[in-house]
Amino acid sequence: MNAPKGFPLNAWYAIAWSHEVSGREIISRTLCNRAIALWRKPDGSPAAVQDACWHRLAPLSLGWIEDGEVVCKYHGLKFNAEGHCTRMPSQDAINPGVCVQSYPVADRHRFIWVWPGDAAKADPANIPDMHWNDDPAWTGDGKTMFAKCDYRLFVDNLLDLTHETFVHSTSIGNSAVAETPMETSHEGRTVTVQRFMENIDAPPFWRAQLGRPGNVDRWQIIRFEAPCTIVLDVGVAPAGTGALQGDRSQGVNLRVLNTISPQTDTTCMYFWSLVRNYRLGDMALTTLQRETNARIFVDDQIVLEGQQQRISMMPDMPLRTLNIDAGSFRARRIIERMIADED
Ligand code: FES
Ligand SMILES: [Fe+2]
Repeated sequence: MNAPKGFPLNAWYAIAWSHEVSGREIISRTLCNRAIALWRKPDGSPAAVQDACWHRLAPLSLGWIEDGEVVCKYHGLKFNAEGHCTRMPSQDAINPGVCVQSYPVADRHRFIWVWPGDAAKADPANIPDMHWNDDPAWTGDGKTMFAKCDYRLFVDNLLDLTHETFVHSTSIGNSAVAETPMETSHEGRTVTVQRFMENIDAPPFWRAQLGRPGNVDRWQIIRFEAPCTIVLDVGVAPAGTGALQGDRSQGVNLRVLNTISPQTDTTCMYFWSLVRNYRLGDMALTTLQRETNARIFVDDQIVLEGQQQRISMMPDMPLRTLNIDAGSFRARRIIERMIADED
């Protein structure tokens, strides 16, 4: 299979939030340079097929759902979830070759996941672990950012949180992040980067979460799962209460769940959510955290889209690597290997 240069096709990618896909209307998303139509069948399970009709390539997402199947708005051809044509209004016989491509699809952890590559290799057991999204011990919410950049720029960004010191200096960053060394390790398709900051001043966001004065111990444990899922285990606790040794009972702990799906070579869909294991019933806090985080992530979007513009203008210039890029360097090698394995 000829995989595009920047992303593997044999992978599960988030393509929508579960609540965005219904049995009432067809939605269209672009994933890995493929137009995909999504809807739900009468049993509630999701369906994903090429969003271009077999006949004249009209988007199937312009049509409607009838008996759990999609009807093309242009001349009425009907396709089921397997992509087979089940009705041709102007002809009696249907050629069995009339079909559109269907894709393996799954509904898990509040997201719809699609496998754009070789369907025989799609195993739902390999869907990235984002279970905190529907674990009753955690609560929170998130959003989607449609960004005009290569998804790997988000991978770089999330694996190197020293950027918080500079990009997010008014919210989650301060000098301790950039000045504290990190440890990087990798195994199989995962990379882990961790940083433990002892007895530091708390940045404004974390001060508000903790709700008390005084220095804090702060942790950041970043886990990348190839090709594009990153879970951040982050938090603060009053300094000296044992959080960095494993007792986080005095602190506040968040998981930032991120999965960034390529749309094209230079655009992506960034699905994120922020979940916590404290004040579980506090809906106002959920909304406040979600909206605060959305604003923080716009700071990243501005930098990354600017980077992409320059990369596109200067295609011969390399992206150079410093010590802080150890995690993303490793992640990009893993992605490259996945792509090479598909050739
Ligand atoms: S383009 Fe879909 S039926 Fe003609
Ligand atoms: Fe950021």
